[in-house]
Amino acid sequence: MPDTGITKVLIREEEIQQTVTKLGEEITQHYKAAGGELIVIGLLRGSFVFMADLIRKIHYPLVVDFMAVSSYGDGTVSTGDVKIVMDLDESIEGKHILLVEDIIDTGTTFEKVIRMLSNRNPASLKVCTFLNKPSRRKFDIQIDFCGKDIPDEFVCGYGLDYAQKYRNLPYVGVLGE
Ligand code: IMP
Ligand code: MG
Repeated sequence: MPDTGITKVLIREEEIQQTVTKLGEEITQHYKAAGGELIVIGLLRGSFVFMADLIRKIHYPLVVDFMAVSSYGDGTVSTGDVKIVMDLDESIEGKHILLVEDIIDTGTTFEKVIRMLSNRNPASLKVCTFLNKPSRRKFDIQIDFCGKDIPDEFVCGYGLDYAQKYRNLPYVGVLGE
């Protein structure tokens, strides 16, 4: 692999686009039936590439907002600490919220974010993740829209990083030792 450190391509660009299109259709159908004002919230930084593609596949009026929480630091092991680094601009009270994540691994980050946002009384709160590592889950999280389940391997690209690098890869690759 020309990109140093990547040993294998797990999800090719074409497959990413198919996955995102399928998610967009599911989400569109859901909110067309449910109605109401929709705010799509991306967790920075990992979700920004996926968000950009996903919102263009959702054919329903929406507002975009972002939130940054600290989770992993620079390594591959979760510290279990989660704090808000950048909060939302929009009030979510009475709005339908779609929370978008790049990957749900142990679920530590997401469980805390879901609890924080639920306390702000949204009309509904749904979860969309591009990737899911079910084998590592520590918290029970209901994922409403899931792109792909992947095995327990550390992946990079399409927004996902290792020590803030590799986010610009157009595919999802596995990082070797
Ligand atoms: P969790 O709290 O263990 O679910 O971890 C969530 C966060 O860890 C994600 O939002 C990612 O930023 C990061 N993460 C987990 N697994 C990977 C991976 O395989 N590659 C890159 N980042 C990951
Ligand atoms: Mg990260």
